[in-house]
Amino acid sequence: MSQTKPLYASFRSIGAYVPSKILSNTELEKMVDTTDEWIVKRTGIKERHIAAEDEYTSDMGTKAAELAISRAGLETEDIDLVLCATVTPDYFNMPSTACIISDKLGIKNVQAFDISAACSGFVYLLTVAKAFIESGMKKNVLIIGAEKFSTIVDYTDRSTCILFGDGAGAAVICATDNKEEAFVDVHASADGSYADFLVTPAPGAINPVSEKVIKEGLNFVRMKGNETFKLAVKTLTKDVKEILEKNEIHAENIPHFIPHQANYRIIKAVGDALNMREDQVVLTVHKYGNTSAASIPMAINDIYESGRLKKGELMLLDTFGGGLTWASALLPFAGENI
Ligand code: ACO
Repeated sequence: MSQTKPLYASFRSIGAYVPSKILSNTELEKMVDTTDEWIVKRTGIKERHIAAEDEYTSDMGTKAAELAISRAGLETEDIDLVLCATVTPDYFNMPSTACIISDKLGIKNVQAFDISAACSGFVYLLTVAKAFIESGMKKNVLIIGAEKFSTIVDYTDRSTCILFGDGAGAAVICATDNKEEAFVDVHASADGSYADFLVTPAPGAINPVSEKVIKEGLNFVRMKGNETFKLAVKTLTKDVKEILEKNEIHAENIPHFIPHQANYRIIKAVGDALNMREDQVVLTVHKYGNTSAASIPMAINDIYESGRLKKGELMLLDTFGGGLTWASALLPFAGENI
């Protein structure tokens, strides 16, 4: 293997962190006009985890990253790029959460930055890591999806507060010359004309912090739920069919379909359109809700820790989120079995 120009990116390890506090549907029934029955029927969500007041996105990301680095058999000094996907960063402007995580991990003098692609963030990071590795610029890229979504949720709005949870997931993407371990394909896209489907109006240049922001709750996430739902099913189905067709892989041969965990009905509709069996589809939405950029790595970690994900097995990732953004990936798990 050439030390200066490695050819392939491989998914070497996974880690995740879930905060201990659980917010159940029964508790939400006491906060807004909703029922456990409605939430389960319409979303599949039974509970979600909420970070402690003094537990931030970077804390959760750091814990997930520590696990991912050790499971990759690496030390922090081996990491040469730190990337974090989040829409709930520790600070909205600067410094980036990736910089804070790097510091907490003791990683010094290494490039670090955040990206904002909402729920698609983690798969977006796979495209970035792949490009850095295949260009020969980096060898061991730490990618993190971390969210403290509870900080932008209005717990008086029943249409959104039932959906989201907090958490983090991380992976180490390494350079390899072994084609068997290489990503098969990654694809990411966006359509900004749907920006108003999912938006947190403040704080930002349009709505800097003001009395109006607080009074009108512009700092909370707003979603055109039903419109987003329909577009999500259509886009995800098309995207996943395209990546399978392009790579001449049949859906029935995918051991692990790991979609973004936003709503069980979306996952079921896409799985059905692909004729996926139940055992192929990874589900965590019932216990974590929608954790945005953390959703896919948390789901991968779940099947890894339960011994379901084995070295060399193919994962199909598929995600959709604010922007609007969407992305998919086909890649083998190149780490060691737990
Ligand atoms: N409890 C009880 N009733 C409710 C609740 C609730 N928590 N929330 C909404 N309702 C009511 C509505 O008021 C409405 O009542 P009406 O008919 O009297 O007006 C009715 O239920 C139906 O509302 P819809 O919004 O049409 O319900 P829908 O079946 O679409 O479910 C949901 C809403 C769960 C939000 C769904 O639309 C969804 O999952 N959307 C997509 C989410 C998504 O994928 N987002 C992208 C990723 S997120 C990211 O990027 C951060």
